[in-house]
Amino acid sequence: MPFEKTTAVVTGGASGLGLAIAEGLIARGTQVAIFDIHAEQLELEVKRLRADGAAVNGYVVDVSDRAQVRSAMAHVRFDFGPVLILINNAGIEQFGKFDEISDEFWDRVMAINLRGPFICTQEALPDMKAAQWGRIVNISSSSAQGGQSQMAAYVSSKSGLIGLTKSLALELGRYGITVNTVPPGMVVTPLLERAIAEGRFTASLEHFAKITPVKRAGRPEDIANATVFLCQDESSYITGQVIGVNGGRRT
Ligand SMILES: NC(=O)c1ccc[n+]([C@@H]2O[C@H](COP(=O)([O-])OP(=O)(O)OC[C@H]3O[C@@H](n4cnc5c(N)ncnc54)[C@H](O)[C@@H]3O)[C@@H](O)[C@H]2O)c1
Repeated sequence: MPFEKTTAVVTGGASGLGLAIAEGLIARGTQVAIFDIHAEQLELEVKRLRADGAAVNGYVVDVSDRAQVRSAMAHVRFDFGPVLILINNAGIEQFGKFDEISDEFWDRVMAINLRGPFICTQEALPDMKAAQWGRIVNISSSSAQGGQSQMAAYVSSKSGLIGLTKSLALELGRYGITVNTVPPGMVVTPLLERAIAEGRFTASLEHFAKITPVKRAGRPEDIANATVFLCQDESSYITGQVIGVNGGRRT
């Protein structure tokens, strides 16, 4: 099964890392369905990608909502065919003291960052099992590898995603489906720019670059390159792995 010409769903693909991943897959000939909650941004990016000749559709979806995901997957099958690649990338950040996290906010972070991948994977799985071929890449976070002060809900959700990855790899390997996770570290995207503008980090981006072995912050294409690599047919023996893309800050 060559991964070119297959169909990929990229969640949260209207911005930042998801958009770069969508572009990386499109460059390899994959048909891409972008799921995103942000309708305006989605329309803008899909128009731009189509103008460049991409086979891409946008679907307004909240990944934490089972009915919305199920309906969007059905549309993707109709528009493009079976979904054989799934990139669970949509996520929200959370900053603040542990004592001040409300039940509602904890649940919201878990719903998008962890239940979203659970739902999307369940809804795409029948296609992959039928094809005996599938690629799932979960975008977690390097913060889950070492913990992060004042990000307890976020880090818990992303740690859960690493556990989900490892468990699914064991369960789905027999169907030719690989499941891996890429935990990015400090990549310049709208999410990170928002966090910096809101003063969420005590250190500047320049400082992070200085303490990073490769001496720069990450670029969205760094994450996209690793993700596309994991989707290739040649990567069929790589599963259950945590592929850190962080300039060497965490190994
Ligand atoms: N940028 C970084 O440094 C960094 C580091 C570690 C992990 N990550 C993770 O990478 C992923 C992408 O982050 P980014 O930096 O590109 O952020 P971003 O905010 O630029 O993009 C996230 C996208 O997800 C979408 N989204 C949010 N909630 C959604 C929902 N419920 N349903 C569907 N779409 C939804 C947003 O509309 C947005 O388009 C996230 O999961 C994030 O936690 C990012």
